[in-house]
Amino acid sequence: MVNKSLTLLFVLAFAATPVWSANILALFSTFSPSHLIVHMSMMKTLADQGHNLTIVTTLKPKIAPHENMTFIHAPASEERLKGMNEYLEKSSKEKLHMVQAMINSLTNAGSMLGIGYDFVVDPKVKAIYENPQVKYDLLILGYLMNEFQLGIAAKLDVPAILSWVGVPFTFVDDSVGNIYDPSYVPSITMAADPENPTHSFSWRIRNFGSWLVFKALGLGVEYKMNAFYEQAFGNDSSMPSYDEVKQRVSLLFYNYHSHSEGPVRPTVPQSIEIGGIQIKEKPDPLPLDLAGFLNNATDGAIFFSLGTNVKLKYFDPQLIETIYQVLSRQPLRIIWKWDDQEPKPGNASNIYFHNWLPQDDILAHPNTKLFITHAGKGGVAEAQYHAVPMLALPVFGDQPGNAQLMVTSGFGISMDLLTLTEESLEKGIQEVLKNPVYRNNVRKFSDLYRDRPLTARQSVIYWTEYVMRHKGAYHLRSPIVKLGFVARYNLDVYAIILLILLSTFIMFLIVLRLVIKTLRARQQTKAKVKRN
Ligand SMILES: *[C@@H]1O[C@H](CO)[C@@H](O)[C@H](O)[C@H]1NC(C)=O
Ligand SMILES: *[C@@H]1O[C@H](CO)[C@@H](O)[C@H](O)[C@H]1NC(C)=O
Ligand SMILES: *[C@@H]1O[C@H](CO)[C@@H](O)[C@H](O)[C@H]1NC(C)=O
Ligand SMILES: *[C@@H]1O[C@H](CO)[C@@H](O)[C@H](O)[C@H]1NC(C)=O
Ligand SMILES: *[C@@H]1O[C@H](CO)[C@@H](O)[C@H](O)[C@H]1NC(C)=O
Repeated sequence: MVNKSLTLLFVLAFAATPVWSANILALFSTFSPSHLIVHMSMMKTLADQGHNLTIVTTLKPKIAPHENMTFIHAPASEERLKGMNEYLEKSSKEKLHMVQAMINSLTNAGSMLGIGYDFVVDPKVKAIYENPQVKYDLLILGYLMNEFQLGIAAKLDVPAILSWVGVPFTFVDDSVGNIYDPSYVPSITMAADPENPTHSFSWRIRNFGSWLVFKALGLGVEYKMNAFYEQAFGNDSSMPSYDEVKQRVSLLFYNYHSHSEGPVRPTVPQSIEIGGIQIKEKPDPLPLDLAGFLNNATDGAIFFSLGTNVKLKYFDPQLIETIYQVLSRQPLRIIWKWDDQEPKPGNASNIYFHNWLPQDDILAHPNTKLFITHAGKGGVAEAQYHAVPMLALPVFGDQPGNAQLMVTSGFGISMDLLTLTEESLEKGIQEVLKNPVYRNNVRKFSDLYRDRPLTARQSVIYWTEYVMRHKGAYHLRSPIVKLGFVARYNLDVYAIILLILLSTFIMFLIVLRLVIKTLRARQQTKAKVKRN
C-alpha cells in the first residue's frame, strides 16, 4: 500500500514537471556589459529550468556561479577593443557633424564585425564546433551583426535562436522576415510620437531617410559577413552557403514589449517578445550598507547612473563638478554610480558612491523618486517597470532615441549632457520631482507592462523548448526569408504591370494618331473634292 502510493506520488511529480535537460550552446561576442546582462538573464532562466548551458563570451559576465552553466571566456584582442573605445570616447566628448558621426559608426561597425570574426576562430570556440565533447541540441546567438557565426550551428547541425537586446531594427527584422514599414515603424534613430500616430510628412521623410541609410549600411555589412563566413568556414566543402546558413534561424527573442512600449509593429510568429527579461520579478535584498542608506532616505532618493559604457573620465571635469554641486545640495539622498578608480568629486554626506550597483533592486525600492540616466535601453526599461520617472542625459548610439521616446511617452525629461549648467540641472530635477504628471504616466505604463499571458521568463522557457521539441520549428518561418530582393518587394510584378500600362498607353497613342491621320486625310480629300 505504502509502496503503491509512493509510486503514484513519483509518477505524479514527474507528470507535473517533465524533467528534460537539453544541452544548449550560447555565444555572446558582445563587448557591451549591458547587452550581456540581458543575455545572461535569459541564460539563467534556462539554467534554472534544468537545461545544461555552455556559454561562451568575450566579456566576463558578472553572474553568480550556477551548477547548470559552464562559462568559457574568449576575450577580444586589445587592438580591436582600442578601436571600439576610441569611438566611444569621441562620441562622448563632442557633438559630431552628421557625416562624421556616420563615418564613425561605420568604423565602429567594422571593429564590431572584427570582434565577431576573431571570436569564431578563437581556439576555444573552434574546439567546440570542430571537436564537440557533448551533443548539443540548440545554439543561442547574441545578435550583433554576426550572422556569419551561424556557421557554428551548421557545423553542430542544430537549430539557432537569435537574441537581441532591444526593439528590432532593420537588420534584426530581416533575419526572420519581419516587415519593416518606414511609413509608421520608427527607425532605431527615430522615436514614435504616441500622441500623433499618423505621422507627419516630415517625420516620414526623415524616417525613410534613416531606413535608407541603414539599408545601405546593411549591404556593406552583409558583404563583409559573407566574406567572414567564407574565411571561417569556406574550407569545409560540406558546409552550406552563407545564404542557406542564415535560414537556420528558428526564432528571434527580443527585449521589447510592444503592447506597452508601442507602437505595435508587424511581426512574424518567429519573433518572440521578451521585454523586461533582465528585470527580476521580485527584487533581491540590497547590500546592507546600501539598504540602510536607502531605507533612511526619508525625503526620497535619486539614482544617478550613466551606465557601463560611458566612463565619466571621458568628460570635462567641470561637468562633473556641476553635477556634484547640484546633487550634493539636494535634501534627497543620492546614489551615484562612480568608477572606483577615480577620485570622488567630494564627500557630501547625502551621496553614496559605488562602482557596482544593483540598478534593478535600487529602482524597485519605494524611496527611489528619480532616475538620472544615460537612457540605455535596459535602465529605461527597469525604471518603467518599477514606475520611476526619469531625467535622461543621452550620449550616443541608441540613447538619444531611447530618451526621446521616454520623453514623448511622458515619463520624464531629457537634457543635453554637454551643455548642462547648475541652474538647468537643478530646474530639470525639480520639474521631474515636483510635477506629478511624469510619475502618473510611468505608473500607468508599469501596470500595462506587467499584464501579459506569459512573463518574459515563461516565454523564454516555453519557446526555447518549443523549438527543440519541434526540431527547429521551421514551420514558423515566414516565406519571406527565402525570397530574393526582387521577389521580396514584388519588383518584377510591378515592372510587368508598369510595362502593360505603358504599352497600352503607347498603343492608345498610336491608334489615336492613326485615327487623327485618317480623319485629316478624309477631310483633305473632302476639301479637295469641294474645290474641284
Ligand atoms: C540544474 O538542472 C537540474 C536538472 O538537470 C535541476 O534539477 C536543477 O534544479 C538545476 N539547478 C538549479 C540551480 O536550478
Ligand atoms: C553540460 O555541459 C558541460 C559543458 O559543455 C559538459 O561538460 C557536461 O558534460 C554537460 N552535462 C551533461 C549532463 O550533458
Ligand atoms: C582555410 O584555408 C586557407 C588556405 O588554405 C587558410 O589560409 C585559412 O587559414 C583556412 N581557414 C580556416 C578557418 O581554417
Ligand atoms: C539609519 O538610521 C538609523 C536610525 O536613525 C541609524 O541607526 C543608522 O545608522 C542609519 N543608517 C545609515 C546607513 O544612515
Ligand atoms: C574626501 O575624504 C577623503 C578622506 O577623508 C579625502 O582624502 C579626500 O580628499 C576628500 N575629498 C574631497 C574632495 O574633499
